[in-house]
Amino acid sequence: MIEILSPSELPRARAAGALVADILQTVRDRVTVGTNLLDIDRWTQEMIVAAGGVSCYVDYAPSFGRGPFGHYICTSVNDAVLHGLPHDYRLADGDLLTLDLAVSKDGLVADSAVSFVVGGAARPEDLAMIEATERALAAGIAAAGPGARIGDLSHAIGSVLAEAGYPVNTEFGGHGVGSTMHQDPHVANTGRPGRGYRLRPGLLLALEPWIMADTDELVTDADGWTLRSATGSRTAHSEHTIAITEDGAEVLTLRRGDRG
Ligand code: MF3
Ligand code: CO
Repeated sequence: MIEILSPSELPRARAAGALVADILQTVRDRVTVGTNLLDIDRWTQEMIVAAGGVSCYVDYAPSFGRGPFGHYICTSVNDAVLHGLPHDYRLADGDLLTLDLAVSKDGLVADSAVSFVVGGAARPEDLAMIEATERALAAGIAAAGPGARIGDLSHAIGSVLAEAGYPVNTEFGGHGVGSTMHQDPHVANTGRPGRGYRLRPGLLLALEPWIMADTDELVTDADGWTLRSATGSRTAHSEHTIAITEDGAEVLTLRRGDRG
């Protein structure tokens, strides 16, 4: 199903987006070498509850995971890229961490992800990979607006990733957002311009380019949730929820740290 919000619903979508952005920024600022992934999960739970939000993850039990997720945020480290199940692990200097968070607030969802390196020992190739997903996300957002087609966004995202030299997986990608986290239309991270659903004001989309350094193949961790690169190579993921407006697209999950 594709949901189109009425203009009067947009403030609630903005509030959901601001909450997700605020939690991700707070966690990012608090994470240091030695932080346990379970601490991140607890902080997130506390912030969601304090804000009157509802986790989209804790009871989530899709076909691609084992049972309910049971946690509040995805924490994917190094070769883990999607759906990283928080577990008892202390972050080390140079770890590449992806946080992915979706929360419902007053009936509307926002979904966002950010990758960054913990501590001071960042590998240049990790920073380049993170930057490629950020540039791909920006290109997807720039291509979005009323009248644009999903294929235009997919093409914009995929072109940046391919030009940067990364293989692109098409099993998981972006999606419509609204009263639930995952809705139509699907937004693949590569595609042909001029194809697919035509965007309209009031549509919410989560765009989420993600890559693995040298493969497009995923393997599922023994925990039944965490998806890792098949080669063990490192990975990155950047995601924002956007609202299609009359004259373009508004990013609902912009973080303080990205506003300059
Ligand atoms: N928020 C993720 C996405 O970007 C989905 C995570 S599902 C979970 O679409 F159960 F793993 F949390
Ligand atoms: Co998403």
